[in-house]
Amino acid sequence: AWLRKFQRQILAWYGGAARDLPWRADRDPYRVWISEIMLQQTQVATVRAYFERFSAAFPTVTDLAAADEAEVLRLWEGLGYYRRARQLHAAAQVIADEHRGKFPREFAAILALPGVGRYTAGAICSIAYDQPAPILEANTIRLHARLLAYREDPTKTAGQRLLWQFAEHILPTEDVSSFNQALMELGSEICTPRNPQCGVCPVATLCQAKRENAVAEIPVPKKK
Ligand code: ADE
Repeated sequence: AWLRKFQRQILAWYGGAARDLPWRADRDPYRVWISEIMLQQTQVATVRAYFERFSAAFPTVTDLAAADEAEVLRLWEGLGYYRRARQLHAAAQVIADEHRGKFPREFAAILALPGVGRYTAGAICSIAYDQPAPILEANTIRLHARLLAYREDPTKTAGQRLLWQFAEHILPTEDVSSFNQALMELGSEICTPRNPQCGVCPVATLCQAKRENAVAEIPVPKKK
């Protein structure tokens, strides 16, 4: 009963709260992929303009594969972490050469691309294809740690194992695309690191940290 209610509340909230972001205009896996790579180390507000320019310059994965690396890097200029751009370019060439220019649908094939890890593969499979693949990144680590009142370091091995398992457990059988995007949106807009907006959170009544009045103490900071 907890889970059904959780899924229902998350999806209903996202129906009204989803931001209008350029990579949400369609479910092209190529565009989802570019946006997720850009969003890994860069804020949504900055990514917007870069995403628009990049996807206009290289509308398809074969356009990106055929481009000069210098041109790819020029469009990345200012985003930083330039390895992301080189790996994006290399992965486009793998898709052109080994997948006949068609973005792969299989989780394992996507995970095998340069620069694609478990999170990015899960994001593409769920957001673009509605496949029941879990995701876990900074926003959802914080959200899930609070929902569960998890008091250990969630970035360590045991925490990662538990939270990936939780992320998989909560997946709905339908609308995984919206569901996973909703979790990230909730983490970034409501369940924020400081001053989380529990008063408007759609799952506040299902949150163990809230119940224990411990939202401010969870997640615990990383020990250095
Ligand atoms: N951060 C990373 N990917 C995101 C997405 N698809 N929606 C919202 N925030 C994100």
